[in-house]
Amino acid sequence: MSEAAIGFAKANGGRFVEELKALLRIPSVSTAPEHVEDVRKAAEFVADGLRAAGLENVSLIETTTVHRKGHPLVYGDWLHKAGKPTVLLYGHYDVQPAEPLEEWKSPPFEPTERDGNIYARGAVDDKGQMWMHVKALESLMKSDGGLPVNVRVIVEGEEEVGGEGIAAFVREHGDQLKADAALVSDTEMFAPELPTLCVGLRGMIYTELEVKGAATDLHSGMYGGAAPNPFVALAQIIAKLKDEDGHVSIPGFYDGIEAPTAEELAAWKTLPFDEEQYRRHEVGSTELTGEPQYSVLERTWSRPTMDVHGMPGGFIGAGAKTVIPAKAVAKISFRLVPGMKPEATFAKYKVFVESIVPRGTQVSVRMIHSGEPIVVSTDNEYIRAAKAAMAEVFGKETVFVRGGGSIPIVGDFVRELGIPTVMMGFGLPDDNLHAPNEKFHLANFHRGIESIVRFLDGVGAP
Ligand code: BES
Ligand code: MN
Ligand code: MN
Repeated sequence: MSEAAIGFAKANGGRFVEELKALLRIPSVSTAPEHVEDVRKAAEFVADGLRAAGLENVSLIETTTVHRKGHPLVYGDWLHKAGKPTVLLYGHYDVQPAEPLEEWKSPPFEPTERDGNIYARGAVDDKGQMWMHVKALESLMKSDGGLPVNVRVIVEGEEEVGGEGIAAFVREHGDQLKADAALVSDTEMFAPELPTLCVGLRGMIYTELEVKGAATDLHSGMYGGAAPNPFVALAQIIAKLKDEDGHVSIPGFYDGIEAPTAEELAAWKTLPFDEEQYRRHEVGSTELTGEPQYSVLERTWSRPTMDVHGMPGGFIGAGAKTVIPAKAVAKISFRLVPGMKPEATFAKYKVFVESIVPRGTQVSVRMIHSGEPIVVSTDNEYIRAAKAAMAEVFGKETVFVRGGGSIPIVGDFVRELGIPTVMMGFGLPDDNLHAPNEKFHLANFHRGIESIVRFLDGVGAP
C-alpha cells in the first residue's frame, strides 16, 4: 500500500519542492495589514493544492472575530472509507514578518537552496511542513486511487497572530471538523536524525502595556526633572515583573501549575542534550539565564516565563532627539504551562501592574491574544502509529518531547473536539524559526512526506 505512494513521492519529489518554492514566494505575513491580499493568495494556493491532490469540498472559509475580519481557513476532505477512522490534518499557511531584512543571506521571499536546505520565511514554519501533508495525500491518492483513512484538512492563516478565527470556527462549527484524531506538523525534532513526537506545548498570553505621562511630548531640557518619563516608568514596572533568577514576581503566578511526572522528567534526562553546545550554537550568548534550580529543558518546556518583545514609541530614529515622550508601550508575553489559565494569569498580571504604577503615570494593559497550554495523552493507537511510522522512516526509536512554543488551536482540538492529537514535526533546532535565514532541511521534507504516508496507512490498517 504505502510503498506505491512512497515511490510516487520519490519520483515527484523535485516537483513537490518547486511547488513549495512557489508558495514560499507569497509573503503571507498575517500580522501585516499591507499583506492581506498576499495572505489570501497563499490560501488560494493551498486550496488549489488540495484540489490537485484529489480532495473534495475544497473551499475557503471566511473568518471574523469580534475585532476584525480574519484571514480565511482552507478546508478539504475525502470521506469515502466507511468503517475507518477520520484524521484531521492541520497546518498554517501564514508566516511571521521577515524583518530584519539585512540579516538574510538570500531574500526571505525568494526561496533559495543551499547545502540541502531551502531558505525562506515560512520554509519550516509552517508552509513546508503543511505542504508535506498535501503532498502525502496526493501521493496516496495518485498511486492507490484513494486514501487508507477518511481525511479532513484544515489550514489556517492566523496561527502566528493567535488563531482566533479558527478557534471561533471550532467552537461554532466543530461538527464540520469531526474526526477521530488530529495530525499537526508544526513542531521540531529534538536533534537531526532523531524521530520526535511533541506531546506538550506551552500556552501564552500576549499583552501590551501602555504607560502615559505628560499630556504631550516635552522638551527634556525644559521639563526633565519635573515631568514623569513613561519609558523610565515602564522599565521600573518590567524590572519588577521578573527577578534575576528568572522568577516571575506576580503574586500567585505559579499557583496550581502541574509539574511533569517523574517518568517524563527521567525520559528528558536521557535525551541527547548538550547544554554548552546549545548555549554556544543555538543561543549564542555568554550565559544562559532563568531559574537555576531547573534544567534548560524544564525551563523551556514545563516552566512558565515572561518576555518583552519590543517597546514601540519615543524617539528611535538615527541621531539624537531630546524629548520626554508622552507615552510608552511594551509588548510583553507570558508562556503558560498546564495548570495555568490565560484569563486568570492576565488578571493577576493586571492587578500586580496596577499596584506598582510609578508616580505621575497611568498604566493600561490589554491582551492581544492568548492560548491554553496542552499536554496530550501518549496512550492511544494514533500516537503508537505515529511513533512506528517515524521510527521506520528514520531507522531509530521515536522520542517524546514537549515544545516551548504555542499552537493555540491544538488545545481546542483536545478540549473542544475531544480527539487525540499527534504532533509530528520535522523542523530542526537550528532552522531559525521566526528569525532571519529560516530554513527547512530538504531531506526532512521528503522524510516527512514518507512518515505521514506511513502514519495514515498505519491508522487505516485493519
Ligand atoms: N510552530 C510554532 C510553534 C512551535 C515551535 C511549537 C517550535 C513547538 C516548537 C508556531 O508557529 C508559533 O510560532 N507559535 C507562536 C504562537 C502564537 C500565538 C504567536 C509562538 O509560539 O510564539
Ligand atoms: Mn508554526
Ligand atoms: Mn511560528
